[in-house]
Amino acid sequence: MGLLTGETLGPLAVAVAVFLLLVDLLHRRQRWAPRYPPGPMPLPGLGNLLQVDSLDRRCSFTQLRHRFGDVFSLQLAWTPVVVLNGLVAIREALVYRSEDTSDRPPVPMFQHLGCGPQAEGVIFARYGRAWREQRRFCVSTLRNFGMGKKSLEQWVTEEASCLCAAFADQAGRPFSPNALLNKAVSNVIASLTFGRRFEYNDPRYLKILDVMEEVEKEHSGFLTQVLNAIPVLLHIPGVVAKVFPGHRAFMALLDELVAEHRMTRDPAQPPRDLTDAFLDEVEKAKGNPESSFSDENLRLVVSDLFTAGMVTTSTTLAWALLLMILHPDVQRRVQQEIDEVIGQARRPEMGDQAHMPFTMAVVHEVQRFGDIIPLGAPHMTSRDTEVQGFLIPKGTTLITNLSSVLKDETVWKNPFCFYPEHFLDAQGHFVKQEAFMPFSAGRRSCLGEPLARMELFLFFTCLLQRFSFSVPAGQPRPSDHGVFGPIVNPSPYQLCATPR
Ligand code: HEM
Repeated sequence: MGLLTGETLGPLAVAVAVFLLLVDLLHRRQRWAPRYPPGPMPLPGLGNLLQVDSLDRRCSFTQLRHRFGDVFSLQLAWTPVVVLNGLVAIREALVYRSEDTSDRPPVPMFQHLGCGPQAEGVIFARYGRAWREQRRFCVSTLRNFGMGKKSLEQWVTEEASCLCAAFADQAGRPFSPNALLNKAVSNVIASLTFGRRFEYNDPRYLKILDVMEEVEKEHSGFLTQVLNAIPVLLHIPGVVAKVFPGHRAFMALLDELVAEHRMTRDPAQPPRDLTDAFLDEVEKAKGNPESSFSDENLRLVVSDLFTAGMVTTSTTLAWALLLMILHPDVQRRVQQEIDEVIGQARRPEMGDQAHMPFTMAVVHEVQRFGDIIPLGAPHMTSRDTEVQGFLIPKGTTLITNLSSVLKDETVWKNPFCFYPEHFLDAQGHFVKQEAFMPFSAGRRSCLGEPLARMELFLFFTCLLQRFSFSVPAGQPRPSDHGVFGPIVNPSPYQLCATPR
């Protein structure tokens, strides 16, 4: 200690500063690589963190795109990032270069929350054998349980009836629909994963939903971003328990449900749901150290399906109802189509879609306008690759600005307005649009897309068959501006549901 005198302190500080600058330069050396995408000059240590508004990154990216073009680079602290904008660049990266761009950047906090090389779930799994195995399992198991088939349709239709009953209980009084939408959509995931639904007032279900809301806040919180950026902090004893109590409580609730399932499972019978099918795979994989089918991974896969499948679908439905009260003329046209094609006597079915071009256009336009996951999920290059003539080295994080496609001024007639005609031709037929990309594209695109489409169509048409929605008397017209976050929610609003 005696060595740290005033005379030695100065040179030591200079040496430390020089060392840190060298480390910093090392981290951003790829900026000087030939054909690396252009971007704003990074500051030492912070990189471009100050040039990106962490509360509305989409807005910062729009400005940077105007300056640097569709493919630009950023340095977020020490992480090299390339932001992809517009249909052409995103399609090239995710579809044509899928083999190079399907990895995920490591998320340090998950390593402290039960993830390991053989137990990574699906969403944040690194691109490799374990991810491939689990993705294939989820897609095929969900399909066997009815994804795109009648049996799942029945689950959703029955849940839609429960949702309508809960709306009717509001007796025409103003209410915010979000909580009820969450309950209905989570029940669809519960039926897939655990072969059961919960009553909307079941205290255990209310606890699960509360905890899920907490998890969403924890994962998108500022503190989480700091911990992921400086992972050494996660090693401080007690930090993980303090910062992620919701995550741990959610996992404990899932563990309880899985344990109950094990007790009622009969391996001699065909699997009742995804959990049973997974447990069958765990048994088959015993003695195979390579397999990703393990008890630890089961809880992560189920948790992924709940987190990815719940908020996304219920937020989209919240946008749909908001846009119906803001555009009563559109609502009336949907109801007219429902009355003509389905009537009031029977429930809507997926087969009705083919005869309901206007309703289809409205559901698509809700997703386009709502733009709920504007920046997709982060990808990472697993080897050097090329997009739009730029070279992107292995290990670079890719941000796919899906919003820039859904709101592209060169593609859509009225990109910033709710305009169902975007999906209709002159004869009123429904037309698909290539730039409709809310589920992303390529190998990592949303695996729940068929289920999400089914839920959106059936919940939406069931609700509009039974009710007319309006802005509560005396309340101002709600805004159609979203609240920016990892998921863009509509600004809080209330509506009245009047039985038809
Ligand atoms: C309106 C509803 C939904 C939207 C807009 C949506 C959108 C997305 C997007 C943008 C991604 C990221 C794709 C990428 O990395 O490029 C994604 C991934 C994913 N989604 Fe969805 N999603 C929805 C519903 C669902 C549902 C209902 C489920 C499950 C039942 C689900 C399960 C997943 C999973 C597991 C992934 C990760 C796929 C992988 O990494 O391989 N999603 N979703």
